[in-house]
Amino acid sequence: MLIRTEIGVDAAGIDALLRRCFSTAAEAGLVRQLREDGLLTLGMVAVDDDGQVLGYVAYSPVSINGVDQNWVGLAPLAVDGSVRGQGIGTQLVRESLDSLNEFGYGAVVVLGDANWYQRLGFEPARHHRLRSRWPNSESALLVCKLADGAFDDAEGHVEYAAPFNLPD
Ligand SMILES: CC(C)(COP(=O)(O)OP(=O)(O)OC[C@H]1O[C@@H](n2cnc3c(N)ncnc32)[C@H](O)[C@@H]1OP(=O)(O)O)[C@@H](O)C(=O)NCCC(=O)NCCS
Repeated sequence: MLIRTEIGVDAAGIDALLRRCFSTAAEAGLVRQLREDGLLTLGMVAVDDDGQVLGYVAYSPVSINGVDQNWVGLAPLAVDGSVRGQGIGTQLVRESLDSLNEFGYGAVVVLGDANWYQRLGFEPARHHRLRSRWPNSESALLVCKLADGAFDDAEGHVEYAAPFNLPD
């Protein structure tokens, strides 16, 4: 399995993967919209020897209390059902965090399973008085610091990019 940054020809494979992995087409539509709007900060794919996309993770800008702090949000993350439990999801997140770190981003937020993401360096966002506008999401909002001092002026509402607010 090769993990690399997404390129143009991956778009159809990413779309098909997201439709297979989620119960609705919302995530596939979200990624298409982010790409169209130039809001995909980073997309990484896992591809097999035939070039088929079997894993994907995307990042887009988030603001804190309406201010751009050079942070990004992770969403969505998906691995094809046929190859789950082999560490591909973990590898996708690890390698993409390394790239974001090299690019100089401050921190990454995610709404997800706390146990899964805490293994990868994420911690509850409430420890830094960060919250999302989605109700009942408090324990699911997690943050991973990339740059020293990232939390110094960051506190308040985490706002995802506009396509996250579109109806399904
Ligand atoms: C979540 C997902 C990306 C994990 O991919 P993966 O390649 O199987 O992940 P890894 O092999 O690196 O890690 C598997 C481990 O995570 C655990 N795990 C998988 N999904 C989990 C979840 N939703 N919550 C908690 N743990 C989970 C597995 O039990 C396994 O644990 P183990 O190593 O102790 O056996 C994949 O299951 C998936 O695509 N699910 C459907 C889409 C989804 O829910 N995405 C996340 C929300 S955006």
